[in-house]
This record gives sequence, structure tokens and C-alpha cells, in this order.
Amino acid sequence: MDQKKITIPDLIKMKQAGTPIAMLTAYDYPMALILDSAGVDCILVGDSVGNVVLGYESTVPVTMDEMVHHTKAARKGVNHALLVADMPFMSFNISREQTITNAGRLVKEAGADAVKMEGAGEGVITMIRAVVGAGIPVMGHIGLTPQTATMLGGLKVQGKTGQAAQQIMRQALELEQAGCFGIVFECIPDVLAEHISRALKIPSIGIGAGAGCDGQVLVTHDMVGITERFVPKFVKRYAQAAQIMREAAEHYVADVRGKTFPDSAHSFTMKPEDLKGLEP
Ligand code: KIV
Repeated sequence: MDQKKITIPDLIKMKQAGTPIAMLTAYDYPMALILDSAGVDCILVGDSVGNVVLGYESTVPVTMDEMVHHTKAARKGVNHALLVADMPFMSFNISREQTITNAGRLVKEAGADAVKMEGAGEGVITMIRAVVGAGIPVMGHIGLTPQTATMLGGLKVQGKTGQAAQQIMRQALELEQAGCFGIVFECIPDVLAEHISRALKIPSIGIGAGAGCDGQVLVTHDMVGITERFVPKFVKRYAQAAQIMREAAEHYVADVRGKTFPDSAHSFTMKPEDLKGLEP
């Protein structure tokens, strides 16, 4: 396996060569290590950490400190992939100074290679320009943007009407213009994603956006079956990790109750004569 570090020009070359980019999420050292060694090109410390690790109802409560904490941990496990960290809700909406400071924390303090920012309104585009201008690579994210899902009418497929599709197309081109090196398309029709991807020089990474994107991303906890809650239609489960872990824990409980664990193979010994003097 090629263990060379993936760079942004490598991702652009992959798009040009028609080589699909594989991206997955990780929020800690062991998961990042596993994904990196599996040949994943981009690892995203997504604010989905709120849903799948921290037990929140949405990504909205996730804080900058939580993102820095989880990005730092994931960084330790990544040698090959490009590490992208999400800017959480309200970390890039108040002022340019605050936005650059927060993006800078994810890169300087936590070790991310790039940040991802959701949305493409006028305000967000201004902040993206500021962050790119400060020398920090930015990945965009349009279509369904979970941080502002309430304004979109919930967690729904976006861009299904002609007008909505044109708006998403415009947003993608504006994000490219603003200096993004890639864009996540979440939950948009496959033909729309393919059409926009062809119009862009930068790679599109789809989640629920069909096969016409330049790459794909999934939330790893959904993909490997750690989350057992409802998973959206676009998630393919490649393993049943929760079931495997639960069965292992059930065996452990049975072994402890049955006193078959620990056995001598998992215990330490000492010479009986060294025990002398300890008898009551
Ligand atoms: O937070 C996240 O995991 C994401 C992906 C769904 C792209 O933004």
C-alpha cells in the first residue's frame, strides 16, 4: 500500500484521472489508525462526532473544544490520509477574526490539514475567503447541511426542483471561486451531483449524492454498524460491529460469572515459597 502523504494537488489529480476518492470519518486515534492503514484518502473529523460518539441529538451543540480534542486524537493515527476537521456550528458565523482563530486552532493546535465549513450563503462565502486567505485549506459542504437543517425543512434531500438544483449549482461554483479545494454534496439527486461535478475543477465528495461524484464519504460508525439506530438510505453497512462487540461482552460477562476468566493463561504466578509469611 502506498503510504505517501495525500496532498490537495493529489486529490485534484485523482479527479482529473477519474480515480474515485475514498473518505470516511474518524474521531479518535484507533479508528484513524485503522482507516489510514486501509488506504482511505481523506479522513474527516466530522461534527457528526456529536451524534455518533457524544450522544447528542444533532451536530448543533458540538463545540470548538470538542472538535479540537477529537481532531488531536485522530491526528495521532493518520500518516497517509489528508485530515480534514469540521468547523462546528457558530464557529465561523460571528466575525472574520473569530473564524480565522477557530480554523487556526484546528490546524495549529489539533493538527488538521484542512477544515470543512457548511453552507454557501453570502456570509459563509466571506468567511471561507478569509480562512483561505489566511492560508488554511477549506472544503465546502452543500445540499443538506445538518447544522442548519431546521432552515432546510429537516434532514431532507435537497435540490429536487429545477430552481433548487440551479441554486446548488450556483453555490458549488461560488465555493470553487472562493478557493475551496473540494466540496461535500450531501443528499442531492445523483444526476444533479454528476452534472455539477463535471462543471467543477475541484473534486466533489458525495454522501447520498450518487455515483457521479469524484469521491464518496460515509460516517464510519454507520458504515461499520457501530450505530444501530435508524440509518439513512444512502448508508451501506459493511459490518455489524455493534453485534460483534455485544457478543464479545456477553461472553466476557458469562466467563466472569462462571469463573472461567481469568484462567491460568491470563494470570501471573509466583513461587509458593515466596508466599510464606503471608498466610494468616
Ligand atoms: O460531520 C460529518 O460527518 C459530515 C459528513 C456527513 C460529510 O459532515
